Amino acid sequence: MNNIRIAPSLLAADFGNLQRDVEMVNSSQADWHHIDVMDGVFVPNISFGMPVIKSIAKYATKPLDVHLMIIDPDRYIKSFASLGASILTVHYEACPHLNRTIQAIKAEGMKAGVALNPHTNISLLEDSITEIDLVCVMSVNPGYGGQKFIENTFAKVKALKALINEKKTKTLIEIDGGVNADNTKALVEAGADVLVAGSFVFNSQDPMATISHIANIANA
Ligand code: DX5
Ligand code: ZN
Repeated sequence: MNNIRIAPSLLAADFGNLQRDVEMVNSSQADWHHIDVMDGVFVPNISFGMPVIKSIAKYATKPLDVHLMIIDPDRYIKSFASLGASILTVHYEACPHLNRTIQAIKAEGMKAGVALNPHTNISLLEDSITEIDLVCVMSVNPGYGGQKFIENTFAKVKALKALINEKKTKTLIEIDGGVNADNTKALVEAGADVLVAGSFVFNSQDPMATISHIANIANA
C-alpha cells in the first residue's frame, strides 16, 4: 500500500460556497487543502489573498498546503505562518536566495516547498534538495486551473526521484496541474507522493467520490 497524499486545489472551488467546499474536503479522503496564491506579476492571474485564506483556515481541519505564485515571497512568510500554513511552497524562479528563503520558512515552523515551472530543470536543485521538504513539479504553466497536463512531467518526476534517492533525503514530490484519474497511476509509478487536483475534483458531479477515486487508484 502506497502512502500517496491527495491535495484538492481550492482554486477550483465555488468561492460563493467556500465553507461548503472546504468542509467537503474535510470529510473526504483528501489529505491536504491546496491553496494557490497568485499575484498577477509572477503569473498573469490573481487568485485570492490573506482574508480569503483566513476564512479557509477557519473551517479547514486538514493541513494547509500553500502554493505561492508570487514574486519576493520572503515578504509574507510570517503572515502565512500566522494564517496556519503547514507547508509553504515558493517558486524556484522567484527566489534569488532560495537557501535563505527555505531557512526562513522553516524558522516559522512550516515545511518548506519549492515549485518548479515546466521549463526549470531538476538538476538546479542538486545543491538544495537536502534542505527541501517538498518539491512541487508544475505539470502546467502556473496561473490557471483546468489546463492540459504536460507529458514531459513524467521524465522530470523520475529525474527528481533519482536525485532524492541519490542524496538520501525524505523530500516529497508533489505534482500540480492537469492531474486526473487517467494519469494518477503513471505519476505514482514515476515517484509522486502528493497529487494536487483542482478542476478534475471540483468540476465533477460528486467531488467527494472523485477524491476517493483518485486516492484509491494512487494507493492501490
Ligand atoms: C495552477 C495551480 C494549480 C491548479 C491546478 O497554477 O497551481 O494548483 O489549481 O488546477 P487543475 O487541477 O485544474 O489543473
Ligand atoms: Zn498549485
